[in-house]
Amino acid sequence: MSEQTVALVTGANKGIGFEIAAGLGALGWRVGVGARDDGRREAAVEKLRANGVDAFGVPLDVTDQASVDAAAAQLDRLDVLVNNAAITGGAPQEPTLVDPETVRTVVDTNVLGVIRVTNAMLPLLRRSAHPRIVAMSSSVGSLARQTGGGEVGPISAAYSPSKTFLNAVMIQYVKELGDTDIRINMGCPGYVATDLNGHRGLRTPEEGAAIAIRLATLPDDGPTGAFFDDAGEVPW
Ligand SMILES: NC(=O)c1ccc[n+]([C@@H]2O[C@H](COP(=O)([O-])OP(=O)(O)OC[C@H]3O[C@@H](n4cnc5c(N)ncnc54)[C@H](OP(=O)(O)O)[C@@H]3O)[C@@H](O)[C@H]2O)c1
Repeated sequence: MSEQTVALVTGANKGIGFEIAAGLGALGWRVGVGARDDGRREAAVEKLRANGVDAFGVPLDVTDQASVDAAAAQLDRLDVLVNNAAITGGAPQEPTLVDPETVRTVVDTNVLGVIRVTNAMLPLLRRSAHPRIVAMSSSVGSLARQTGGGEVGPISAAYSPSKTFLNAVMIQYVKELGDTDIRINMGCPGYVATDLNGHRGLRTPEEGAAIAIRLATLPDDGPTGAFFDDAGEVPW
């Protein structure tokens, strides 16, 4: 019998992350619910278990190296890491008005958080037969889209550039880990109604989770180092 696939989803207590955990759990995978708040994490784990998911809680604040290290130490196996946790930093985000500390905080969570978690989990992923890393990015991080004349979200000096930065960093992982089996891809969920945008998004969290689930379940000869949404490749 083949071993059960083990995944960790960061920021899985709500929103798209919760639905990614639910979707991967529905495949029969064992799913770690990475979340920083004990109550919110346990509530999510309970809800997933009630729906038949083999879920377990992983205390995890992606801005805290000690928390990230403890999360890695808690796991004895990991096949798939979904870096989903992120913040917007709130308003104002016009570059002429933004508080530089807001930019720092957003980058700390959305970029450095992904580096912390990825590096801590890498020894586990290297031992997996089918390792995958998914980073939840956003089309608002696409410089091609930002300069292409279309509508790509509000003016944002912290959140959108943090996703551009994230994409750029993940490409460096792809370069460094190119001789391993680890497939690394970025996903955009579309505009999804969650706490992140005051529920103004047009898609459901379940719809938003679909791209992450697709990238988490890519075959061994699937793409790596690419950026996708449900419609196909997103330009950098
Ligand atoms: N919603 C959209 O339209 C949209 C569009 C494009 C991309 N995305 C991306 O999709 C992903 C999920 O977004 P969402 O809409 O589901 O957002 P959300 O509902 O606000 O959920 C964000 C999750 O990240 C967690 N988180 C934030 N900071 C954290 C930290 N320091 N450590 C651990 N967890 C932390 C939150 O935990 P708490 O509950 O503890 O705060 C929450 O679980 C994000 O990467 C986002 O950038 C979303």
